[in-house]
Amino acid sequence: MSAIAQEFEASQLRRLSERGGAPVAGGFSAVLQRARSMQVSPGQMAAALSRLRICPTMTAHPTETKRVTVLEIHRRIYRRLTELLTRTWAPQEEASYRDALLAEVELLWLTGELRLAKPTVQQEIDWGIHFFHEVLFDALPTLVDGLGYALEHQYGLEPPEHFLQFSSWIGGDRDGNPFVTAEVTRYALQRYREAALSKARASLLALIPSLSVAMSVAEPSTRFMAALEDALDHCGSARAAIEQRNPGEPFRQFAAALLLRLEATLSGDPGVVPFGRSEEFRLAVMALRHGLSECGAAAVSRRRVLPLERRARIFGFHTVSLDIRQNATVVNRSLAEILRLLDPADCPMPGTLGWSARLARALKEDPPDFASLQTSEETRDLITLFEVLIDARRRDPAAIGAFVLSMTTSAEDILAVHVLARWATGPFHGGQKALSVVPLFETIADLRAAPGIMTAVLGNRAVRRMIHEAGDSQEVMLGYSDSNKDGGFLASNWELFKAQMALRKVGARHRIDVSFFHGRGGSVSRGGAPTGRAIGAQPPGTVNGRLRVTEQGEIVSARFANRGTALAHLEHLVASVLLHTLEPPGAQRPDEAGEFFEALEALSGLSHTKYLDLIRTPGFISYFDQASPISELGLLKMGSRPARRFGGATRDISDLRAIPWVFAWSQNRHMLTGWYGIGTALSNLARVRGDSGMALLRRMFEGSRLFRLVIDEAEKLLLQSDLGIASLYADLVTDKQSAAAVFGAISAEHDLTREMILRITGEGNLCQRFPEFHARVHEMRPQMEGLHRLQVDTLRKVRASGGPEAATQDDISTLMMTIHVISGALGWTG
Ligand code: PGA
Repeated sequence: MSAIAQEFEASQLRRLSERGGAPVAGGFSAVLQRARSMQVSPGQMAAALSRLRICPTMTAHPTETKRVTVLEIHRRIYRRLTELLTRTWAPQEEASYRDALLAEVELLWLTGELRLAKPTVQQEIDWGIHFFHEVLFDALPTLVDGLGYALEHQYGLEPPEHFLQFSSWIGGDRDGNPFVTAEVTRYALQRYREAALSKARASLLALIPSLSVAMSVAEPSTRFMAALEDALDHCGSARAAIEQRNPGEPFRQFAAALLLRLEATLSGDPGVVPFGRSEEFRLAVMALRHGLSECGAAAVSRRRVLPLERRARIFGFHTVSLDIRQNATVVNRSLAEILRLLDPADCPMPGTLGWSARLARALKEDPPDFASLQTSEETRDLITLFEVLIDARRRDPAAIGAFVLSMTTSAEDILAVHVLARWATGPFHGGQKALSVVPLFETIADLRAAPGIMTAVLGNRAVRRMIHEAGDSQEVMLGYSDSNKDGGFLASNWELFKAQMALRKVGARHRIDVSFFHGRGGSVSRGGAPTGRAIGAQPPGTVNGRLRVTEQGEIVSARFANRGTALAHLEHLVASVLLHTLEPPGAQRPDEAGEFFEALEALSGLSHTKYLDLIRTPGFISYFDQASPISELGLLKMGSRPARRFGGATRDISDLRAIPWVFAWSQNRHMLTGWYGIGTALSNLARVRGDSGMALLRRMFEGSRLFRLVIDEAEKLLLQSDLGIASLYADLVTDKQSAAAVFGAISAEHDLTREMILRITGEGNLCQRFPEFHARVHEMRPQMEGLHRLQVDTLRKVRASGGPEAATQDDISTLMMTIHVISGALGWTG
């Protein structure tokens, strides 16, 4: 409830600030003002705008504990608040709105908060589409307006029409999720298509009554009349009915004809010619807009028709571009199986030199006859998936995004996907363009190896040709959470930074535009730093107008459940990318040069070593298992996918996904995923370099955006960690001696990190710089302590009874509720 009130208040404050003439920090007006102060000319601005391609990518990562029913009540509460507080009502009206609000709060209070069953992928697809219907279909055209308004005032320029579009992984992310089959992907594509078409249909239906311009009053242009003739021609026998229903009202007739054609596109009415591609529909809507303007109805065309045209451009007939994700292990396994079936004597093992040569040959070969191969179910499903992709791309090329290859560790991993993609969707299929293959680098070692891997891939002629066909651009995805799990917070941030700089150089050497897809979760440990600052801290020249970023799980509802919040977030995202792009390319920031670089390199190495020492401490895995509710997480039934990629043993953290890792350390309030290792790194650097070391750290705090971001976020997480509460969880560990050793190491590093951060910032207490945040954490402390005590007691009972299966329903409900409420209070689940 308080989060909803805060969202509402923030949105009101933004309005007030704009009305008072002060642009909202980080918004369009503020960034354009800044651009003017940086002497960015209109020509430079136009060039930057033309490059803008920003793509939030929605995922159903299992971090959302709230049921859809509860999310819907939240949204209604927000709406009721807006109705009640943003207009002036007569007393009786006000009482009625208050009552409506009370009814929603009552319902929320009495509604079961948690899911009773694990969601299916189909439900996750519907959950994602819900945000488009409720908010995004209408919000995105408004966002273009917002940019247009600011641009007109500051630069006299028009907004670009196509700078933001959504992608999705929901229904396409099969990495470690056996429920995402080819058939499920086919279903997802169908649902996304229906969503876009039915929104376009509803918009046209709403538009038709207002198009009452009469021919007798305003004569349409001959161009429009020709377009009308063409539209009616496509309606077959329904033409006469349209003309009779709206005699003398050509615009109504035109819109009615478009409506019929859209309906035929949706349901396949044989008498009417459906639209082929969404572009055909968009051009027709544009003809309507121009026709109205030419008749003197400029405001009508702008207010009523332009949003529809913009929607058609942004969402087409596909709503989102659906990405496919699979991991390299599965892809290699399937390709090796296919090659073995084709010729058992010519199939070296993946990972060998022979494998690499075999892939190079396969890239030049014609596709095999897949139907004749007796493959395993896994491989058959991958082949069917490619068939689904060919079909979808034939109907609408924008419906499919990229093939994201997780766990990419070598050039051969990437070549293997290219082989499959070329066989399945390449030149043999009616000239379809090569499918974009996006490697995902997600461990520290893989981030370090990424530039070498990409150099090898781009050195392959066949692949280079495919990339050329795709416009000489290559996207690379960066995994924030797994690199964090692998190397700790500081090392992950630094390696991500360096990898981007190096990959950008590799791209320049091969004359390829390398852009980045940031796989960031909501919590800070999974890359969820504040949007504007996170983008601002990217290395210079690495954004250049292009940014893809994941919007995962609980973040989707936090950002897109209400129009005001969604618009504010998206504006901030676009404005930050624009600002980063406008920064002069030659202006090196100190992060990447000279002493700051060396210091960050040293700090990263030191913190990484310290972090690895902890993970390798004897008894650490048992500590992790027992001193947190990790084994009980499954009770929450959060997402369709399992907690482990390959279903490995519970005592192995290597294939444990990053979300449960962060979840466990958050619930038990150690929060070490956001700070562990930093204290040792800072203090060693200061010790070795003496006074000059401390002075350097302070200069970096002032001058390096990346270092500042790391320190700020680590400091916030240190404040949110609570070793008093953490010790209650440590007490759950049965081997007291190793528990004491692990907890001792964690508390010592906690104290050291706190001390070093305070020495650098010069503050007396943590987070004095963030007073609101500080106050919030302190206000919640007493209630949080009660909740944690209850959770620890319940964990003890549930485990003593033999685990969740044997525990009482009461205890299970209590446990689930404590997990849910603690994550609600922290603001993230994992
Ligand atoms: P993944 O995502 O486990 O789906 O790779 C990691 C994360 O976002 O935490």
